[in-house]
Amino acid sequence: MGSPHATILFFFFLFFPTTFALPLCTDSSAPVTLKAPLPFCPYNGSSCCSSATDSSIQNQFKSMNISDAACASLVKSVLCTKCDPFAAQLFTIEPKLRTVPVLCNSTFPGNPVRSKDTTADFCAQIWDTCKEISIQNSPFLPSLQGAAGVSATSSKLTDLWLSETDFCNEFGGPSGGDTVCFNGKSVLFNSTQSSVTPKGICLERIGNGSYLSMAAHPDGSNRVFLANQGGKIWLATIPEEGSGGTLELDESSPFLDITDDVLLDTQFGVMGLAFHPNFTDNGRFFVSFNCDKVQSASCSGRCSCNSDASCDPSKLGTSNGVQPCQYQSVIAEFTANSSSSSPSASTSARPTEVRRILTMGLPFTSDHGGQILFGPADGKLYFMMGDGSTKGDPFNFAQNKKSLLGKILRLDVDNIPSKKEIDDLGLWGNYSIPKDNPFADDSERQGEIWALGVRNPWRCSFDYERPSYFLCGDTGENGYEEIDLITKGGNYGWRVYEGPELFQPTSTPGGNTSATSIDAIFPIMGYPHSALNNSVGSASVSGGFVYRSAADPCLYGRYLFADLYAGAMWVGTENPVNSGNFSSAITPFGCSQRSPVACDTVEGSSLPSLGYIFSFGEDNSRDVFVMTSKGVYRVVRPSRCNVSCPLENKDGDDGDRAPGAASSTAGQLEKLQQLKLRILVIVFLLLLLGFS
Ligand SMILES: *[C@@H]1O[C@H](CO)[C@@H](O)[C@H](O)[C@H]1NC(C)=O
Ligand SMILES: *[C@@H]1O[C@H](CO)[C@@H](O)[C@H](O)[C@H]1NC(C)=O
Ligand SMILES: *[C@@H]1O[C@H](CO)[C@@H](O)[C@H](O)[C@H]1NC(C)=O
Ligand SMILES: *[C@@H]1O[C@H](CO)[C@@H](O)[C@H](O)[C@H]1NC(C)=O
Ligand SMILES: *[C@@H]1O[C@H](CO)[C@@H](O)[C@H](O)[C@H]1NC(C)=O
Ligand SMILES: *[C@@H]1O[C@H](CO)[C@@H](O)[C@H](O)[C@H]1NC(C)=O
Ligand SMILES: *[C@@H]1O[C@H](CO)[C@@H](O)[C@H](O)[C@H]1NC(C)=O
Ligand SMILES: *[C@@H]1O[C@H](CO)[C@@H](O)[C@H](O)[C@H]1NC(C)=O
Ligand SMILES: *[C@@H]1O[C@H](CO)[C@@H](O)[C@H](O)[C@H]1NC(C)=O
Ligand SMILES: *[C@@H]1O[C@H](CO)[C@@H](O)[C@H](O)[C@H]1NC(C)=O
Ligand SMILES: *[C@@H]1O[C@H](CO)[C@@H](O)[C@H](O)[C@H]1NC(C)=O
Ligand SMILES: *[C@@H]1O[C@H](CO)[C@@H](O)[C@H](O)[C@H]1NC(C)=O
Repeated sequence: MGSPHATILFFFFLFFPTTFALPLCTDSSAPVTLKAPLPFCPYNGSSCCSSATDSSIQNQFKSMNISDAACASLVKSVLCTKCDPFAAQLFTIEPKLRTVPVLCNSTFPGNPVRSKDTTADFCAQIWDTCKEISIQNSPFLPSLQGAAGVSATSSKLTDLWLSETDFCNEFGGPSGGDTVCFNGKSVLFNSTQSSVTPKGICLERIGNGSYLSMAAHPDGSNRVFLANQGGKIWLATIPEEGSGGTLELDESSPFLDITDDVLLDTQFGVMGLAFHPNFTDNGRFFVSFNCDKVQSASCSGRCSCNSDASCDPSKLGTSNGVQPCQYQSVIAEFTANSSSSSPSASTSARPTEVRRILTMGLPFTSDHGGQILFGPADGKLYFMMGDGSTKGDPFNFAQNKKSLLGKILRLDVDNIPSKKEIDDLGLWGNYSIPKDNPFADDSERQGEIWALGVRNPWRCSFDYERPSYFLCGDTGENGYEEIDLITKGGNYGWRVYEGPELFQPTSTPGGNTSATSIDAIFPIMGYPHSALNNSVGSASVSGGFVYRSAADPCLYGRYLFADLYAGAMWVGTENPVNSGNFSSAITPFGCSQRSPVACDTVEGSSLPSLGYIFSFGEDNSRDVFVMTSKGVYRVVRPSRCNVSCPLENKDGDDGDRAPGAASSTAGQLEKLQQLKLRILVIVFLLLLLGFS
């Protein structure tokens, strides 16, 4: 049997051969918002071209010396699709670029009738218009042209291709489904999210424990690892849905206990947990936590407030008696107990750290993220780091490319350099910088950076079906909680912007970045604090998952997220699918009548009271879990809450229709939403932790 990792990759390639869903350029970066329309290519707004690329396309076009105006105009439109915000889908990702984008032809399902008048058969239109026209340096050469010895200098399509069918077999492609093609005008999407809007989210409580992090066991089994904030990691078995079972976990024998090394406080503790893609062979796993250098000798990284980052630690002062960089962010590598027959069989880890991957001193005591995740497609370790600041990122770390603060970082933990190389390169620990990181070759930037301008990324995930979809919740400051679609080199705007609005900093010893100097990428979803109907003034987003479980077909393909304080959940919908165009709606949730552990309810109602929604998790069945201060909840089939979802297959399941059950109907859920919030606000006023 191959490793699960290999199996997963195999499935990706099987089902997603060439699509790079979402707006993405051929160099994997996100399109930028043009400040002015391009002079040559007809793009305004979002585009993959700078004015330099635009003028090089203009030169390429001129060099073709196409005499016929109609053909010239078509060829120009074809060349200019490099500027399209969906260029990666049309040309694929470097270095395997096509010379010509996928040209719409008529073979997509549902339209067997070919008509050369419609843009649906753009490929045939190009053939008809250009077939007898000479084109110098033609982009329409056969891919084996060099080997076949065909002259590249000047050619007609009829010199290169036998027929239209021959030509369109090479360059044509369908529109429809999840693929896009170019029809001469714009990229066509033909796939909309199911129109059945989810009426509610049905949860069951499977355990009482409070955890911050969940990681599915890499062996594909029904087991997960759960980490609490204090320093214990448990191996737990997920009960089958409907079995009535609870989370099986032996509290007294954790998989790993690093409590003694961990600094525990409101925003400190074990913040993340990630298993190497080859864990089943190599037993490697990684824990992200915070430590106090006064308490622990191994807690001794460089200070992130340094001269590179235009920050002088001696000027920061102390906050509550804590010196700058006394507290640190750490990623440490551990290994499963190797005396077991295989890592998958291990029920414990070796208690001592194998290797310190990264240690970095924090300037202040808040907003330092800490989640770690392996990219499912690239096997690199992503580390979500907040701006580390107090209010308003006064040192402007998040925009400073010489600082690791306020960034999504990407590390290679498979190639560990020597101590000398680590020192020479100025790395923060035992990792190397992936060659395809956006600033890998720029000595003036920190090569670890994958994306910048984030404030405090609180929970990111990769869509299981589309690994190019990397979504993060980024907690806001005064007004707006956001969800970002993270792309290579993307700048998510903080603290020039908070969400979609310009941010006004109150203290700026580290200077400002002007809005005109950056190409900020705006959130794909989010909510203003005012939407929470609470006067507490605390809001903090918890990013979740694109739901890929079969349990609730009405949620399938939609993104779930929540607010940590308000106990509110949202469902994000992308329409059309793969367009990057999302909208979100606050969605009521209920508790299954068959919940293995009874849900606490909001006083005076049957609605569940979840406590603080810390984060989300996903297991190997792609079920989504909500981890809160009151326990672990699983999203289950909607009928268990008597929530209607016409897509649900209820064969062999009587749902929660047992007579006499005081079930929460969707209607009740909606009615009681406000009551619940009011009560939660009162409860939370007493408990306020100041997380945001
Ligand atoms: C380009 O887009 C901007 C903003 O949408 C708009 O104000 C401007 O008129 C557009 N320019 C052209 C030439 O279409
Ligand atoms: C462009 O084509 C015209 C004929 O269509 C020809 O006279 C001219 O020399 C060509 N120019 C170049 C630079 O090849
Ligand atoms: C999209 O494709 C479906 C079949 O996959 C077809 O029935 C439908 O008419 C198409 N819609 C558009 C707008 O092309
Ligand atoms: C349309 O494109 C597909 C995919 O490349 C190709 O297989 C098919 O032959 C093309 N159809 C025509 C009519 O050229
Ligand atoms: C959860 O807590 C409740 C109430 O304290 C208790 O009755 C129940 O046994 C606990 N369940 C589990 C699975 O620990
Ligand atoms: C994982 O293991 C496979 C097979 O043993 C190997 O080909 C691959 O390079 C490994 N990947 C990593 C990231 O170590
Ligand atoms: C490692 O596993 C072996 C065999 O299962 C067991 O005897 C040993 O106690 C374990 N060691 C630790 C530190 O858990
Ligand atoms: C690399 O790992 C070793 C072993 O954990 C550790 O002693 C050393 O300090 C680490 N190097 C850095 C730069 O963190
Ligand atoms: C930064 O901008 C704010 C207003 O947005 C201004 O009050 C402040 O003086 C600026 N600071 C610096 C160092 O330019
Ligand atoms: C706040 O109240 C408005 C109006 O009643 C409602 O539409 C909205 O969903 C509420 N927001 C939350 C988070 O409950
Ligand atoms: C984006 O989604 C919204 C809401 O579903 C929809 O109204 C709008 O037409 C979509 N925009 C585009 C460009 O598809
Ligand atoms: C479930 O919903 C249906 C229709 O909304 C209603 O008739 C039925 O009484 C509900 N069942 C329970 C147990 O609440």
